[in-house]
Amino acid sequence: MSETIRVGHLSDTHFLEAEQTPEGGHAYDTAEAFDEVLNHLGDHDHLDLVVVTGDIADHGRPEQYDIAIQAFAQFNVPVTVCPGNHDFDNPFRSRVNAPGIDTPRVIEAGAWAFLFVDSNAGMMVASDDGTLVDPPGEERLHTNGSLGALEAEWVRQACQDTDAEHVFVWLHHPPGVDIPLSADPAYAAEWEAVLGDLHQVRGFGGGHTHVPTEYSFVDRPVFVAPSLKNNFDLEAQTWLPPGYRTYDFGADGSISSELHLVDDDRWPRRPLGRAIAALFAGELTYEQLAEIVARRSASPD
Ligand SMILES: [Fe+2]
Repeated sequence: MSETIRVGHLSDTHFLEAEQTPEGGHAYDTAEAFDEVLNHLGDHDHLDLVVVTGDIADHGRPEQYDIAIQAFAQFNVPVTVCPGNHDFDNPFRSRVNAPGIDTPRVIEAGAWAFLFVDSNAGMMVASDDGTLVDPPGEERLHTNGSLGALEAEWVRQACQDTDAEHVFVWLHHPPGVDIPLSADPAYAAEWEAVLGDLHQVRGFGGGHTHVPTEYSFVDRPVFVAPSLKNNFDLEAQTWLPPGYRTYDFGADGSISSELHLVDDDRWPRRPLGRAIAALFAGELTYEQLAEIVARRSASPD
């Protein structure tokens, strides 16, 4: 790898089988969105790595990972993947593993260590034999981040173990989000406690919100990648096209990141509509939104 490390960042790809209904009832054609993103990313020479920060599959079904693997295999650089709340643990662990596509915990490159954190770890539950498994039913689908004591300790240990001068954390759930739907003070507090004495952590890259943005958390930049399923601009109150981010990690610890949205007639920046605006404002639950979507599709008038 060159002195400056260049990364392409996708998130929330939500791959779905043909003709199947997306979770929540509304989605772009994610295969089409992926192709467009792949075309755009091809314009960026010399990427060292592509990172995908979770919600790989829309319902966590095994077949959806097979579609994802075929898509990711088109990158001509290594692809690293971490799990989101849509990625049920078993199919994710067993299916996301192919030549050039991996789920590492740490990658060291030049002055940098990249940590791949499982931001779902704290909501796993102990099974009868003591192993950690997903919570019952579909509970995992709509959970916010939870680090848990084991994963928090792993982050501390990984920072101690690396000789790298700078650490960047990749994960699904970005900490310190201020969108009412996704804001989670307990999760933010977990990260504040972890970061207390880890001065080498320079920033975070994640997804989850489907609201691409950049903000600061405990004096570190947090970069949120767009989704391929649907994206929103909560200031302009519009939908956004699918997209991705690129990064340059400098040997001096600097990070520059750029957001790329693939504007096209297929993904117009249309107004949000009251129901989705209410969801983000925390005034509607996912279940209530799903009922509204189902009612509308039953009587489109
Ligand atoms: Fe997502």
